Amino acid sequence: MPDWTAGALVIFGITGDLATKMTLPALYRLERRGALQCRVVGVASGDLPEADLTELARRAIEKSDVPFDEAVFARLARRMSYVGGDANDPRLYEALAAELAGIRRPLHYLALPPSLFAPVVERLSAAGLLADARVALEKPFGTDLESARELRARLRQVLDERQLLLVDHYLGKEPVIEIEYLRFANHVMAQLWDRDSVAAVQITTAEKLDVAGRGRFYDSVGTVRDVVQNHLLQLLALVAMDAPVDSGVADLRAKKLEVFKAIPAVEVRGCVRGQYEGYRAVPGVAADSDTETYVAIELAIDSWRWAGVPVFLRAGKCLPVTATEVRLILRHTPRLRFLPDAAQVEANQLVLRISPEPALRLRLSGLDGAGRWRPVRLDTTFERDLGTPESPYERLLADALAGDDRLFAWQDAVEESWRILRPLLAYPPPVKPYPAGTWGPPAADDLVAGHPAWQSPWLPGT
Ligand code: BG6
Repeated sequence: MPDWTAGALVIFGITGDLATKMTLPALYRLERRGALQCRVVGVASGDLPEADLTELARRAIEKSDVPFDEAVFARLARRMSYVGGDANDPRLYEALAAELAGIRRPLHYLALPPSLFAPVVERLSAAGLLADARVALEKPFGTDLESARELRARLRQVLDERQLLLVDHYLGKEPVIEIEYLRFANHVMAQLWDRDSVAAVQITTAEKLDVAGRGRFYDSVGTVRDVVQNHLLQLLALVAMDAPVDSGVADLRAKKLEVFKAIPAVEVRGCVRGQYEGYRAVPGVAADSDTETYVAIELAIDSWRWAGVPVFLRAGKCLPVTATEVRLILRHTPRLRFLPDAAQVEANQLVLRISPEPALRLRLSGLDGAGRWRPVRLDTTFERDLGTPESPYERLLADALAGDDRLFAWQDAVEESWRILRPLLAYPPPVKPYPAGTWGPPAADDLVAGHPAWQSPWLPGT
């Protein structure tokens, strides 16, 4: 959509968790740096006087980690208005149409439960509110391949797919955006980044937190749908794709899609599902729940660049640390025959830490004065060398308002990722228990047998 700039941002679900935790603080940050130009209309069920909306926004921003400035907030508050009503009631859309009278190109941002995506978009269309609009949806887009296809078909009745933006906040994280540049702007990286140099890829999203407070939601979702289908596979596409040939979104998407297409559907025996002990006692979780809170998956990418290189993904709750990283474990050099004991040293590793504290490490080996092998670490932290990044939602909202699609997922990719995970979702192996605070069930170690063992994530200060 060339030259599309939003004339208004309409946030459906303004009183919900996502809007108050993420969207409102991100809008405030945009306002603070003068990057917000349009009206902001909050929508939710129920009446909310303007003063209460302002109060809600103030509380949301004060609770976030951004320092509060009255003058900035006053500017933001002046942009905001509220329209209340039931999402299934046509009167809500009449009121919204009146609120948006004379405004071109609204961006409708649906911070809503997925079951409302199609009904709300259809009602927006019926009210004539989609003509020059765009619609941003949060994940999940479907719950499997079939439901994603159904949703796509339903939305297509009223919307051109180019009007749709699928939000995946991982794509707004600075080190994730950076992957494309790091890989292709640096000869040293570009040369290492393929089957000739890489023995295995490990991608870890570990969270210390349990699911307390979100039991009901989590139990209906599980780790595969919560973070693997979206965040981890999107990350993998950026790690594995070839260089785009131009700056347009079409080619970037084509390159990412090539990666997805080259990934065969997972084999169930290459997947380990785990559940932390105590999960079934969490309020909202079924007493006999078989939902996974941990998963480890082996994938292959059957392309000229990656054939034969195993890719291991793991993610989970109640793990020993909170960290997300991409780790390339490189091939061994030949044995060092010129040394007295013809040593085989540790293989080099390249680690991109996504969080906390985005950073890059090249792990090498060196021989110390006493003749012992020592790891030599070349580290850089992004903030020190590249400056403070924008927060993911700030970046994604700014791009969505400016009509820039590059950092969003799209339907073809979503369908591919559901296809890849289909056997696991259709025939899930039973969950294996693991004690909270450990690295999942022991079967996850068996999964990497014959390959480099799982590496503990690189944490700041280590
Ligand atoms: C969300 C998941 O999409 O991503 C959460 O629903 C998860 O369960 C979160 O905790 C992780 O995001 P981040 O940015 O904290 O790594």
